Amino acid sequence: MTTLARRTHTCGEPRARHSGSRVTLQGWVDAHRDLGGVVFMDLRDRYGITQVTVDHRSPPQARQAAAAARLEYVMQIRGTIIPREKPNPDMPTGQVEVLADSVELLSSTLPLPFAISDDCNANEDTRLRYRFLDLRRPALQENLLTRHKAALTARLYLDSQGFTEVETPVLTRATPEGARDYLVPSRVHPGSWYALPQSPQIFKQILMVAGADRYFQVVKCFRDEDLRADRQPEFTQIDMELSFADRELVMEIAQGLTTAIWRQVLGVEAGPFPRLSYHQAMSRYGCDAPDTRFGLEHHDLTQLLQGTAFRIIAGALEQEGGICKAFLVPGAAGSTSRKTLDSWTELVRTHGLGGLLWAKVVQGKWTGPLARLGQQERSAIATSVDATPGDLLLLAAGPASRVHAGLSALRLHVARVRELIPRDQFSFCWITDFPAFEFDEGQQRWVAVHHPFTAPLPQHVPLLGSGREHEILSDAYDLVCNGHEIAGGSVRIHDPQVQSRVFHALGLDRRQAEEKFGFLLEALRYGAPPHGGIAFGFDRCVMLLCGTENIRDVIAFPKTTSAQDLMSGAPGTVDAAQLAELHVTNAASG
Ligand code: AMO
Repeated sequence: MTTLARRTHTCGEPRARHSGSRVTLQGWVDAHRDLGGVVFMDLRDRYGITQVTVDHRSPPQARQAAAAARLEYVMQIRGTIIPREKPNPDMPTGQVEVLADSVELLSSTLPLPFAISDDCNANEDTRLRYRFLDLRRPALQENLLTRHKAALTARLYLDSQGFTEVETPVLTRATPEGARDYLVPSRVHPGSWYALPQSPQIFKQILMVAGADRYFQVVKCFRDEDLRADRQPEFTQIDMELSFADRELVMEIAQGLTTAIWRQVLGVEAGPFPRLSYHQAMSRYGCDAPDTRFGLEHHDLTQLLQGTAFRIIAGALEQEGGICKAFLVPGAAGSTSRKTLDSWTELVRTHGLGGLLWAKVVQGKWTGPLARLGQQERSAIATSVDATPGDLLLLAAGPASRVHAGLSALRLHVARVRELIPRDQFSFCWITDFPAFEFDEGQQRWVAVHHPFTAPLPQHVPLLGSGREHEILSDAYDLVCNGHEIAGGSVRIHDPQVQSRVFHALGLDRRQAEEKFGFLLEALRYGAPPHGGIAFGFDRCVMLLCGTENIRDVIAFPKTTSAQDLMSGAPGTVDAAQLAELHVTNAASG
């Protein structure tokens, strides 16, 4: 049996100045070359890689152990640091190597399902199944470190601003964020269920009533919703709430936090933080989380094309809520093939649009479907979108929601394929003044766009109950970076009367409201300070800091897009006795 020694250096440490030092290193075999009389082993731990050389100068036992070592065996090496004959400038430790006088095996490995390397192209499911191996990759190690630094910076910054971290329950009642809940059956109370929090929203507001003044928490939230590249069923928020705060104060703290994290982790000055109203964002980008690193802004041509003889557009505009919007791709007329335009048409079709109309502006003349527009219409459009020869115009007409969804997806796609998105740039913006309510066709009633405790803008409070609910804007704000919503929050309603009127507008009577949110409503009647807050999607922030588009790359043990943990096998079955104890029957197994 090998005796475990205390390591003297990590595998990332050895440098020329250590030459002549005796060292003990421990780590995984990252590379293994047996050249007959000489074995070179790269030994890796999370700090780096050092080359170990075993040759005629090493004792026979060390030579034997080195020859028998394989990739990912765990080894303990003792030896002396010596300058390398051929330094490797690509390795931080590349000036030196360790001449081993003792090579000991600490642990061997089963055959590896894939190579532990950042260039390994094993599919993601296999890597998630063996996450303990995947996490050994330097890129993922780096991501975990970045995540740690960001969380640490957040805690230090918020502490410096007078915030206290308070933990809130995980087994709780349903919260009002609007996604599906994860439920946990109660053994002690047959037929009763806990819900895992979608956010600590209610508890943080109660903490304000309780006098906490400035609360924060790095907290797990749980939402059973359809997953996307930047969504996970359990994710982490940096959640905060402030008493006696208006939106300006909350935004100031949120910007301060963002700046601190970006500076500490990347050495980058975040900002500026321009503001766009929801209305402006929709009109210029067709979405409320726009990527503002590039142009390709949308232009509304609805007015301009009213009464057009162009049948497809006229038909769309005759429908209630029909609009027509377009954007220009500068200089793309010559380089965009018919095939590409067909694929872009397919893309907008997946968002419910009938198709895509386009024109190439070539020497003052238009070619393509939009060439059939009248001369006056063409020149009015050209002026409106500022078209010049060589540009490509892309246009869609239809119901507003589809035009926005289709053209905003196309804007992003075109920017990607034409490489218009600057790398290593962070473009932030605030989106404010969201509509407070949206009409749910399924339920035939107004629902809250954020949650029902979001304050309407003070000047819009009189519109509650007036039948003009669609005009009411809320005192809510989202922070967007490079097209990702990285934080969202609002000023809350602290006046019970306004709260009742909001519930009324949402079609919730007193009894229903009490049943759902009674404990918050009760607390708000006991001297609630005006308050507001915000929550950062921490995983999304770390994604941006790590330069990845995949949220799973920044979570140690993530779920797949079908909400499975392939390593632990969750969700899994449980035995009948356990279910019976919980008073639950398993319909799926029947
Ligand atoms: P909201 O629902 O906007 O607000 O959530 C805040 C932020 O959390 C992130 N986020 C997610 N990240 C990963 N996976 C998900 N499934 C996911 N869902 C949301 C986003 C989002 O901006 N209680 C309110 C906050 C408040 O009003 O103070 C809330 O939870 O980055």
